[in-house]
Amino acid sequence: MVSRVIPVDPFDLVIFGGTGDLARRKILPALYRRFCAGQILDCCQIIGAARSELSNDGYRQMAAEALREFADVSDIDAVEVQEFLARLHYVQLDARGEDGWQELARLLSEDRIHAFYLSVAPSLFGDLAERIAGHGLARGEARVVVEKPFGHDLTSAKALNQSLANHFDESQIYRIDHYLGKETVQNLMAIRFGNLLFEPLWNSRYVDHIQITVAETVGVGGRGEYYDRAGAMRDMVQNHMMQLLCLIAMEPPARFEPDAVRDEKLKVIRALKPVAAHDVVRGQYAAFIKDGTEYPSYRDAVHDPASTTESYVGLKVEIENWRWIGTPFYLRTGKRLAARSSVIEVVFKDTPYSIFGADAGDKANILSIRLQPNEGITLEVTIKEPGPGGMRLINVPLDMSFSTALGDNEPVADAYERLIMDVIRGNQTLFMRGDEVEAAWAWTDPIIDGWEIRGDRPEVYPGGSTGPTGADALVARDGRVWRTIRP
Ligand code: BG6
Repeated sequence: MVSRVIPVDPFDLVIFGGTGDLARRKILPALYRRFCAGQILDCCQIIGAARSELSNDGYRQMAAEALREFADVSDIDAVEVQEFLARLHYVQLDARGEDGWQELARLLSEDRIHAFYLSVAPSLFGDLAERIAGHGLARGEARVVVEKPFGHDLTSAKALNQSLANHFDESQIYRIDHYLGKETVQNLMAIRFGNLLFEPLWNSRYVDHIQITVAETVGVGGRGEYYDRAGAMRDMVQNHMMQLLCLIAMEPPARFEPDAVRDEKLKVIRALKPVAAHDVVRGQYAAFIKDGTEYPSYRDAVHDPASTTESYVGLKVEIENWRWIGTPFYLRTGKRLAARSSVIEVVFKDTPYSIFGADAGDKANILSIRLQPNEGITLEVTIKEPGPGGMRLINVPLDMSFSTALGDNEPVADAYERLIMDVIRGNQTLFMRGDEVEAAWAWTDPIIDGWEIRGDRPEVYPGGSTGPTGADALVARDGRVWRTIRP
C-alpha cells in the first residue's frame, strides 16, 4: 500500500545541537528520508547550529556519515544524498552569547516557515528562546521544538514552560514525545475511534483490567549519567507510558484536532488516583550472561556501586472517572528484560454465567495491541476444544500483523519523520501541551518523593528476566497475573 506524499510548505529548519547525538541518529536521517520521499521542496534549508567550529562542508560530511550509519535505508542513493546535503548549512553559534546569531538571521529566508529544534540540554532552552526572539526570529510562522526530558519534576517543568512562554505562544511550542509519532501508537486512536465494535465494551463494566508493557532488552548503554539521575519513572513512565495510558483510556474527542485530543488526554491524567506505596514496585537489573556474552549489572553500567535508581517500574494505576472506576491499569517498563515488546493488553471480564458448567473452564477475551515489534492486533476468542469429548473451552488467537494485512514491504516511517513534518504543517495533535506535561509530573512527583522519604531500594532482578518478583506479587494480590513478555 503506497501512502500519498504531499510536500510541505517551504521551510528553514534550524537544529540547535546540530552536531549532537539526536541530530545524527534521528533528526538528519528522518529529514533525509522525507526528502527522498519528495516531501521536502528543493528550496528548503536545514541549518545545523552548534558551538564547534565547522565549515558547511565539514557539516555535510558529518551528516553524510550519520546517514550511512543511521538512515536505515537499504540502498543509499549517492545522487539523492548529494542533493540532500546541498540543503544543509552550518552556523557556529553561542547559545549564551551573541556569536553567530547575526549570521543565522541572515541565512533564514523571509516569508517561509522557520522551525527551531532545540536538540540541546533543557538548561539551554531559556537562553535559546530568548535569543531567537531577541533577534526577531520568533515572529510569524515560527515554531520551536523541544525534547524530553522536559523537566525533572513539576517545579522544573513549570520553569521550562515559563522560559518558553516568555517568548513563544503555546501554539508555537512543539514538545516531542516520540512515542506519539509511532505509527502503531496513532493506530490506538484509529482502532478505538474508527471501529464501532470496541467502544460499547470499553469500560469497567466489561473490561477486567488493562496491562501496558514496554519491555526493553537493552541496558542503559552509554547514557548512564543521564539515566541514573532519571530512572525508569522519569525516563519512561511520566511520558511514554503516560501517553499510552491516555490514548487507551481517554473519552472520544469531538474531533481529531490538537486541542480536542489533548483536552481528553489531560482529563485522564487529572483523574489518576495518587499511587499508594504498596502499588508500585521498583527494580534494578543484575549482571547476567547470555549466549556466552557477559552483560554488566545496572550499577556497573552507571559506575555507581551504591546507586538506588530503578531500571524497572511496575505499578497499579486507577482512573477515578465513570468509565474506568473499578478497572485497574497495570503498567510495567524495564530495561534488560526477556524480550523487546511494547504491548497493550485489554483483558475482558468472564461471561456473566457459563451455560457449559464449571468443568468447561472460563476463558476471558483478551485484545492485545502490539506496538512494537511485529505490530498488529490479536483477539483471543473462546471456542470449543476440538474432539468428541465433552464441551471444553479454549482460547484461540484471531491474529493480524499489520505488515501482512497491508501487504506492505516499505519500512514503517520513523516517529521523527512524522513528527518533524507535523511541526512544519503546524499540526500539534501529536505533541504534548504544557498543561499535560505539568499534570503528568504532578502525579509522578509524589511517587518519587515517597521513595526518597522512605529510603526505598529497588529489588534486584536477573538480567534477561521478566523483572522483579515484587511485580508479580503486585498483580497476584489482585488475583491476576502479568501476561507473558513475548518478542
Ligand atoms: C527514550 C528513553 O525516550 O525511549 C530510552 O529515554 C528508551 O531510555 C527509549 O530506551 C525507548 O524508545 P523506543 O522507541 O526504542 O521504544
